[in-house]
Amino acid sequence: MERTYIKDLSAKKGSEVSIKGWVDVRRDQGKMVFLDLRDITGKVQSVVLPNHAEAIEVAKEIRPEWVVEIQGIVNERPEINKKAGETNGDIELEVVSMIVLNKAETPAFDISSDGKEIGDESRLTYRYLDLRRSRLQKNIVMRHKVAKLVRDMLDNEGFAEIETPYLTKSTPEGARDYIVPARLHPGKFYALPQSPQQYKQLLMTAGFEKYFQFARCMRDEDTRGDRQPEFTQLDLEMSFVQEEDVINLTEKLLIEIVSTLYPEKKIQSIPFPRIPYKEAMEKYGNDRPDIRENKEDPNLLAFCWVIDFPFFESTKTADHNEGEGEWTFTHNPFSASKPEQHEWLLKKENVGDILAAQYDIVLNGFEVGGGSIRNHTPEALQSVFEIIGYKPEQIEKNFGHMLKALASGTPPHGGIAWGFDRLMMLLQGEPNIREVIAFPKTGEGKDLMMDSPAEVSRKQLKELGL
Ligand code: AMO
Repeated sequence: MERTYIKDLSAKKGSEVSIKGWVDVRRDQGKMVFLDLRDITGKVQSVVLPNHAEAIEVAKEIRPEWVVEIQGIVNERPEINKKAGETNGDIELEVVSMIVLNKAETPAFDISSDGKEIGDESRLTYRYLDLRRSRLQKNIVMRHKVAKLVRDMLDNEGFAEIETPYLTKSTPEGARDYIVPARLHPGKFYALPQSPQQYKQLLMTAGFEKYFQFARCMRDEDTRGDRQPEFTQLDLEMSFVQEEDVINLTEKLLIEIVSTLYPEKKIQSIPFPRIPYKEAMEKYGNDRPDIRENKEDPNLLAFCWVIDFPFFESTKTADHNEGEGEWTFTHNPFSASKPEQHEWLLKKENVGDILAAQYDIVLNGFEVGGGSIRNHTPEALQSVFEIIGYKPEQIEKNFGHMLKALASGTPPHGGIAWGFDRLMMLLQGEPNIREVIAFPKTGEGKDLMMDSPAEVSRKQLKELGL
């Protein structure tokens, strides 16, 4: 018999069906056994009655989390037992026969709860069990739905999804790189990308005009609730655009996500307010202001933009110093200045007053994305590198390819990257991005389930020349 998904049972009242799934709860009442069964689509209550002797025998053995195949009859529940508004609240499955497809050891923890009472260490060690709980199943499935909606919308807008390399070269994104030894080139290393920044710009040089990618990014920094060593960006870049175009597209996507997939949520103000960096610092004391009118309301989404960032920061106060000069970039060396300050950038004048064509998107006090219009002429990018004190050899060695590309007919372009995990955390009302990532790392960057990082053999090290 063809398998019926549990969510479809209620439409099959009176018929005999076959379902497959997990035993959620078992209640042995002597003569009869009640089983709550679960598959990816939902749950159903079933009952094994004494007249099905073989099934009763199997049911007596069964434990939670065993995998079973059941044939049964979909019975309408008596009126008084109906549970309105619940999936399958109007039916009960009468088990006719049952096969055990696999047994399960007693799980390390309760799977039926939301899991908030269970220690992270245990949850992450047995992540495959933790992911069975309905809260996590919902988070992961909603993550898929949001990604799918974004893909479809961007496809409609004429974007192409293009993959960029994971084995690449160290780029200045402000964090420490993860490096990978190159076996064929002893003493040399690839770096894992902190973002696809340079590649996406080079795709603009290549003429694709509209690029996007759900890109995995790797940054060797200390993990926090909203930070993982590897995380996902919705990364996009467009040619022939200005700040306004990227901002409008981002708002359009976010509004569509909320209205289609989170209709219970309300966006505080549309268009999203734009707050200059200086005002954000003065008024809120940070550059990711939480502008919610009511912080008690879990369904309120207060998006805002932070704009007009200073391009350069004195190396006396910055937490990074790439070029060992007087100045460093605040966000991204590839950003352009505001158009009206372009001359200052080229002439390296009033450096401290130059504002970047950079925009961050903030949601309820979290930075959920950032981007900029880029320098598309080699002179402008060269000027940035000189301001931050890179020596000519350094510029040539690290960014020669970018300068050459900009000198090969690169169109004006700009883009943005959303922190997709952060966005999903906030949409799902979760306190930590781990809750929306299938296999996240601990605070110390460990994968407890795989027991990684792990030692490798001497032979492997030798091969790599280490
Ligand atoms: P940025 O470094 O601001 O920009 O990153 C974009 C967004 O990614 C999210 N994010 C993170 N999320 C989880 N864990 C992390 N460790 C982490 N680090 C960053 C944030 C952030 O806003 N190439 C540029 C984008 C561009 O200019 O187009 C970039 O990577 O939500």
